[in-house]
Amino acid sequence: MGKKVTVVGAGFYGSTTAQRLAEYDVFDTVVITDIIEGKPAGIALDLNQSRAVEGFETTVVGVTTDKNGEGYEAIEGSDVVVITAGLPRKPGMSRMDLLETNAKIVRQVAENVAKYAPNAVVIVVSNPLDEMTALAQIATQFPRNRVLGQAGMLDTARFTNFVAEALSVPVKSVKTLTLGSHGDTMVPVPSQSTVDGKPLREVMPAEQIEELVVRTRNGGAEVVALLKTGSAYYAPSAAAARMAKAVAEDSGEVMPVCAWVDGEYGISGVYLGVEAEIGAQGVKRVVETDLDADELAALKEAAEAVRAKQSDISSM
Ligand code: APR
Repeated sequence: MGKKVTVVGAGFYGSTTAQRLAEYDVFDTVVITDIIEGKPAGIALDLNQSRAVEGFETTVVGVTTDKNGEGYEAIEGSDVVVITAGLPRKPGMSRMDLLETNAKIVRQVAENVAKYAPNAVVIVVSNPLDEMTALAQIATQFPRNRVLGQAGMLDTARFTNFVAEALSVPVKSVKTLTLGSHGDTMVPVPSQSTVDGKPLREVMPAEQIEELVVRTRNGGAEVVALLKTGSAYYAPSAAAARMAKAVAEDSGEVMPVCAWVDGEYGISGVYLGVEAEIGAQGVKRVVETDLDADELAALKEAAEAVRAKQSDISSM
């Protein structure tokens, strides 16, 4: 049977994610929903009209939903649901400032996803990411492997881009890794980063690596400060769409994602940015990588910071 993916939220993040998913041409159907009347239908119509030019056969369906769940029938049978609903940051805001507003939205969306697409893998991208992922699992009551969040692939992509630019080398020659939270306790991992297979630390001075680490940690805020009206969506949607594709194709690709950690790195019982093998059931397995002592300590600190926030989530 053909694959079906739903994107909830037809804002910047949702519409660009839907576009990428449609252009992959691996899904039968991409459903895009929003609470705004007409907008998802307009985006679907527009994307479908691009098919003749871009040469894809995926059908995009746009549906307006309401808080009571009306319209959600359209997501039935989805293999993957990407939740992008929620407010983005404005300049000066931290992702955590969105907690209460977005918790209400994500809970309501997740409850409807559980009802109408009970077998879907859920990929959360709404911020604050780690907390919203934890909340989506609580609200859906799905097995933890079937609820994951997008952040690590984006943060890693940002780090990679900064390194490639700084060294004037092709992006392809650079491999980086970013773990931890999608926020202040993000953990870029220089020890696992390479340029043309050589350790990053051999080709870049420590101070410059540190500068890029800090820039990566503030990568979202830098875009927000420039855009002024909202947050990033091109790189974020690229990452989320790749994750959804990996699920649909059961590819087993290893990606940095926000996943439930249960003993890996000596950390348990928390949603956290780690590498994981992604397949039809979501997270197949968390993949532990070698970290140096500082990086491991930073990851544990991130876990505790996220745990403290995530424990507030169940009442939201
Ligand atoms: N159900 C469906 N859609 C909703 C709901 C809901 N209950 N509540 C809000 N939305 C929709 C809005 O109507 C809007 O169209 O979510 C969309 C959000 O779009 P934008 O404001 O353009 O924000 P975007 O840049 O897409 O970011 C979405 O991703 O990166 C994160 O921090 C960001 O939390 C934000 C999310």
